[in-house]
Amino acid sequence: MRAPTGETRLAAVIGSPVEHSLSPLLFNTAFEAADIDWVYVALEVEHLRVPDAFAGIRAMGLGGVSVTMPDKEAAAACADSLTPDAELLGAVNCIVNVDGHLVGHNTDGAGFVAALGAELLFDPSDRRCVVLGAGGSARSIALALVRAGAGEVVIVNRTSERAEKAVALLGAVGRAVAPDDAGEVLRSADLIVNATSIGMGDPSDDEVPFDVSLIHPGQVVVDIVYRPLRTPLLIAAAARGASTANGVSMLVHQAAIQFELWTGRAAPVAAMTAVVADKLA
Ligand SMILES: NC(=O)c1ccc[n+]([C@@H]2O[C@H](COP(=O)([O-])OP(=O)(O)OC[C@H]3O[C@@H](n4cnc5c(N)ncnc54)[C@H](OP(=O)(O)O)[C@@H]3O)[C@@H](O)[C@H]2O)c1
Repeated sequence: MRAPTGETRLAAVIGSPVEHSLSPLLFNTAFEAADIDWVYVALEVEHLRVPDAFAGIRAMGLGGVSVTMPDKEAAAACADSLTPDAELLGAVNCIVNVDGHLVGHNTDGAGFVAALGAELLFDPSDRRCVVLGAGGSARSIALALVRAGAGEVVIVNRTSERAEKAVALLGAVGRAVAPDDAGEVLRSADLIVNATSIGMGDPSDDEVPFDVSLIHPGQVVVDIVYRPLRTPLLIAAAARGASTANGVSMLVHQAAIQFELWTGRAAPVAAMTAVVADKLA
């Protein structure tokens, strides 16, 4: 990595905890590969200090900021303006500093759709999609699938109130189905996305988010979890003949969109993918 100078621009991720974040590795690799004089650090920001952090971003002129849990909603409240989708989602994962005016974006869903195209050549247009989960990631993915022209987006979530709230963002193509009633929508889906936390962590834990005997060849199954790289769901889906992808590509593509918003340059996606894959292997 080149040594910072007086002209080096600073970017950062804010949230708590951030010490295990892959973002510094990802973005510093990208800046180096693109030969851009920026440096990226992780800044631990307590939830209640998000307004102070925004004042600091303005005062110190950071070039761009990523926002991670649990600060995404607070960041939406502190931004000077929001993109329409960030406003709808009420959550921001990327701040663009336009001459001191902090614009909040949400790149998670668009990153997911870009990853689907890049890794699996899957176009959601007119396709039947099922999103498992109704948390922040599930909502941004479901909205991006609608934006990409999906024929149907079904939310399946343990807590029905949260599922209904997510569906309210999606217009006519969205609906909620309870997990116990989801057999037919899962069987007939073109795309199934696990956006719950099931599958994270201990690889010896073989929990899956639904009955995997419903999976068949011709389907695309994506697990946005990336630790571990091969979740029990992905192992079962591949064994049943589906096309599969983990969360690495989404992680890279949502970061690539941030990079492009901050720098105006095309992101070095191949270098970013290689460094994350290597780190997680
Ligand atoms: N690849 C990427 O770039 C990327 C980006 C962001 C997040 N992620 C991953 O996405 C996952 C979700 O993140 P998030 O930020 O959306 O989290 P979140 O807002 O906390 O939502 C978690 C979701 O998981 C569901 N859930 C949790 N445990 C469950 C269980 N035992 N049974 C059924 N449902 C369960 C929750 O259901 P209830 O509503 O019923 O509680 C909720 O819908 C995490 O694994 C995270 O690592 C990946």
